[in-house]
Amino acid sequence: MPNASTFLDMKRRGEKIVVVTAYDAPTARIEVEAGVDIILVGDSVGVNILGYAHEREVTLADMAHHIAAVRRGAPEVYIIGDLPYASYDTIEQAIKSSRILQQAGADCVKFEGAAPELVRALTAAGFDVCCHLGLESQHHDVKRRQGRTAQAAAKLYDDALALDAAGQKFLVLELVPQELAARITQAIGAPTIGIGAGAATDGQVLVVNDLAGITAREFKHNRRYGAIGAALREAVASYARDVRAGRFPEEAHAFHMADEERAAFERGRGGEA
Ligand code: KIV
Repeated sequence: MPNASTFLDMKRRGEKIVVVTAYDAPTARIEVEAGVDIILVGDSVGVNILGYAHEREVTLADMAHHIAAVRRGAPEVYIIGDLPYASYDTIEQAIKSSRILQQAGADCVKFEGAAPELVRALTAAGFDVCCHLGLESQHHDVKRRQGRTAQAAAKLYDDALALDAAGQKFLVLELVPQELAARITQAIGAPTIGIGAGAATDGQVLVVNDLAGITAREFKHNRRYGAIGAALREAVASYARDVRAGRFPEEAHAFHMADEERAAFERGRGGEA
């Protein structure tokens, strides 16, 4: 079973770490078959699966439910689970929330923001902690690129160092300039996992709905590796056409009663055997 040192070793060897989100068991199983290193059960589940308008609507119960599903689909994979909005406002609450995610199957808990004291407390309580800087969907009202001015970049850099000194096991960098992500990646011990942060991070993460072509919107940071949304739409439309035209189901899709059972049934109903 992989653990945080597995990925630290990958960073040291210069091997890229492949991370992707999953929210359900079959997708998790397929991702493992495809060779991913880590599955992130992110609070992006809210917008991508649950139909919420914002990540802030995601609850701890939602996260535990989806982490448990991913764990059932991928018993051996290393899972990072998001602590949802307002579930880590105090250290006591963060520890309780992390325990719930761990019991659901998470190997590591992720939270957004620069809170080294939280990393220290969670680490002391026995949790692997993944931090998340740059765009923080839970805390930023507008989803825009971060760290673009020298001052903003310096703050992000200092925060990354402080989180590292506190014992983070990973750092997600979202929507930050490539130069800044590269400097942070060189400066800290923990592997950096980038999304919209350029090519220099130790690993990359994408939202599965975005990479598979389920999400309708296009994002600059994403590459579509499939057209699953279009394929699913076409599959369901074909099914609907066939049902309406009487082409589905066919004889091959039906099953039959044994002759004697059918005869007894018909006799019982007063029909002809
Ligand atoms: O929730 C999520 O999927 C994330 C990624 C965007 C990194 O945090």
